[in-house]
Amino acid sequence: MRKRSRGRNELHPSRFSIIGAGRVGQTLGRLAREAGYEIGDVVCRSERSARSAVRFIGAGRPQTSESARLSQADFILISTPDDKIPDAVSIVERNIAEVGRAVVLHTSGALSSAVLGPLAGLGLSAGSCHPLQAFADPARSLALVSDCYFCIEGDPKAVTVARRFVRSIGARSFEISADMKNLYHAAAVMASGGLVALLSTSLDMLSHCGLSEAEAIKVLLPLVEGTIANLRAVGPARALSGPVRRGDLGTVEKNLRAIASVNADWLRVYRLLAERSLPLAERAGADKESLAELRRILNE
Ligand SMILES: NC(=O)c1ccc[n+]([C@@H]2O[C@H](COP(=O)([O-])OP(=O)(O)OC[C@H]3O[C@@H](n4cnc5c(N)ncnc54)[C@H](OP(=O)(O)O)[C@@H]3O)[C@@H](O)[C@H]2O)c1
Repeated sequence: MRKRSRGRNELHPSRFSIIGAGRVGQTLGRLAREAGYEIGDVVCRSERSARSAVRFIGAGRPQTSESARLSQADFILISTPDDKIPDAVSIVERNIAEVGRAVVLHTSGALSSAVLGPLAGLGLSAGSCHPLQAFADPARSLALVSDCYFCIEGDPKAVTVARRFVRSIGARSFEISADMKNLYHAAAVMASGGLVALLSTSLDMLSHCGLSEAEAIKVLLPLVEGTIANLRAVGPARALSGPVRRGDLGTVEKNLRAIASVNADWLRVYRLLAERSLPLAERAGADKESLAELRRILNE
């Protein structure tokens, strides 16, 4: 992991264009401008989106994907939806005479730089630079980005440029190999959307206990935040708490019975997570015999 280093990096390429300026593109475009990059073209499908993105970023030339005529750029960020990246690649190809020396990075988590293969074939540097953060809307995302990590891969020049870009906007980066992008992305999906889905199951259970959704969120969040603080401080094995960690068979059996009487889906989630907790509990020093018995109960 690289240490954070805020502020402008004098070595970063100066002219930065964006193809696909939605939640991610606008956020990174605005941060790039504030870090000293000169914003070139800002391309969206619709002119309205492109103009609105330029307003948020505070600079740039709005363009539509259909008629985009790109000007010279050192660095092109593609932040279209994943399945539209090939369209963005076509835009760059159509404008190769102007942008033929640019470094092109996309922000998809699931796709690797291989999706930019046609551009690499034309001699451009290509990479991916995925912010490991959830972008709900650009204004709220600005502050979140400086606290997040970007996952980078690509050819050596693209990786160098991506690292400098990330550093210049005050964030941090790490690298993985291209063939791991899908697994990496699956891990991210589980930590973000998966966590929300898990918590929504807890909320449903509390709703069954008579709490409103607002009350359930209010009472659960301190527990969730405390758990995350423990995970940060002492790692997963020691952060694990609850009946599996204690090897408390009776309580797990009561939990299973209570859930089974209400909802079979909740039961599947509980069982799976309890099973996943067993090796953590063992690492944390729980009694092995109790854990073996727990495994048997969970598999019944
Ligand atoms: N949202 C997240 O939390 C998040 C986090 C990390 C990475 N990412 C990745 O970042 C990328 C962008 O995600 P996003 O959430 O920012 O998407 P988004 O908010 O839906 O924005 C997509 C943008 O791409 C434009 N676009 C669509 N088709 C295009 C085309 N053919 N040519 C040029 N521009 C086009 C859209 O323009 P119009 O408005 O005119 O349609 C819009 O400005 C994706 O690869 C995603 O996987 C997202």
